[in-house]
Amino acid sequence: MNRRYFLHYSSMTAAYLLTGCEKKSGLDKETTEKTAAIPPTIEKSSLKEPIKTIKPFTQKLKIPGEINFSQINQAEFIAQKSQVNIFPDIKTDVLTFQGDLPNPTVRISKGDNFDLDFINNLSDSTIIHWHGLVVPEEMDGHPKDAIDTGQTKHYHYAVNQSAGTFWYHTHPHGRTGKEIYYGLSGLYIIEDEEEKKLNLPSGEFEIPLMIQDRRFDENHQLFYKDEKVPQDNNGVLGDVILVNATPFPYQEVKTGKYRLRVLNGSSVRTYKLAFDAIDQFMLIGTDAGLLEEPLKVNSVVLSVAERVDIIVDFSEKNTGDVITLKTLGFKEGSNLTLHPDYPSFGAEIDIMQFHVVQKSEDTSVVPDRLVPITRLKEEDAVKTRIITMEIIAGGIWTLNKKPYDMHRVDEKVKLDTTEIWEIKNSVHMAHPFHMHGVRFQVLDRDGKVEFPTDKGWKDTVIVMPFETVRIIVHFAMPGLFVYHCHILEHEDHSMMANVLVE
Ligand code: C2O
Ligand code: CU
Ligand code: CU
Repeated sequence: MNRRYFLHYSSMTAAYLLTGCEKKSGLDKETTEKTAAIPPTIEKSSLKEPIKTIKPFTQKLKIPGEINFSQINQAEFIAQKSQVNIFPDIKTDVLTFQGDLPNPTVRISKGDNFDLDFINNLSDSTIIHWHGLVVPEEMDGHPKDAIDTGQTKHYHYAVNQSAGTFWYHTHPHGRTGKEIYYGLSGLYIIEDEEEKKLNLPSGEFEIPLMIQDRRFDENHQLFYKDEKVPQDNNGVLGDVILVNATPFPYQEVKTGKYRLRVLNGSSVRTYKLAFDAIDQFMLIGTDAGLLEEPLKVNSVVLSVAERVDIIVDFSEKNTGDVITLKTLGFKEGSNLTLHPDYPSFGAEIDIMQFHVVQKSEDTSVVPDRLVPITRLKEEDAVKTRIITMEIIAGGIWTLNKKPYDMHRVDEKVKLDTTEIWEIKNSVHMAHPFHMHGVRFQVLDRDGKVEFPTDKGWKDTVIVMPFETVRIIVHFAMPGLFVYHCHILEHEDHSMMANVLVE
């Protein structure tokens, strides 16, 4: 399916010319004049190149290294400019935490201490946020806590929540989209005893997949927003899908069950994930933990920042078989036009392949029951709040019509109470609604599409066009936390607000 996009590069020409200023590297602001002056004819001919040089399914999936807090006590991250091989033999300018991409996966057990020094070597202030972790305000990475160039922040907190797949990324006010785009994100896995007892596929049978669509120019350099195309303010779509910073990769597998921990770390794209040669797979976990029981699904919708934990079974396959993981497209997610030169929300795209290379004796079983989930009860809610998702004059994305102000308290919640938040979307586009400092459950939604992920613990929930979603939240961590749309261009501009829990 994506071949169409590979052959479609001429339309990229226009997009590229408009972003000529970002040619050398979008990381250097000063290059504007010089590169914009290159004659268009030269640009056009060279622009045909990149897409042809990206041959899908020829690069092996990169598996992030791990920082395992059962083996070490302390780690260090330095936000820095780096040059890495996203493509073989070509260096791409990116941002990293330890010099290479993908950034390492944090692995930690419930009850253990997380301890990390963060040094900011970028030219702007920034901060790291641990997405989905319920930690004290000073450790959460609120944009107001951004540290300046050259400064260090010490993160230390005890992990006190159940097993799940989380992630981390920087969170400076107004620049989150660009920083994540250039590389500043990674996975964060929490393990616990309950999960260990389940004997889920692990080791080589557990694979993390961080999916991010990106744009590359003819020099294989990333470029972000196309300032001349206003639709990019609705969200930046790309035509190259990276999984763990590898474009359209393949992974060699054995005939057995695999646990895939999938994160959508894109700017705006929602994926409807499915396999071409496997009808059903099992959903075993959502954002903030395992489900009560595995759910058989044919596909699963993943909006920005959401995670799914799935089990896919290759045991009926034969050596030599190829299984493609793809997005079926999710046009229901947006009637708004995004950049016309890139595969739209509805586009079906092949993401990566699994190549079956070896037979294995798989005797593992996925248990019928996973973990108990205590349902938060509506009658325990002391309050219902209404949060509206709106676009206001000037094309500004907001919550409750108010552009974000880092220091304004928008909602005040009493510590240790339960509330219902009613999220109302008044636009032609789905928004992933995310809250810091809590995990929540979905009560109901008044839309037509059903989401199996609504059954588990969430920290990010998709709210469809013109839909109202009711979530129930227990606030157990005091402090000032943000909640926002997780489409990165929306949160930067300015669909975010503060809740004070005290
Ligand atoms: Cu991924 Cu404010 O978070
Ligand atoms: Cu978060
Ligand atoms: Cu949004």
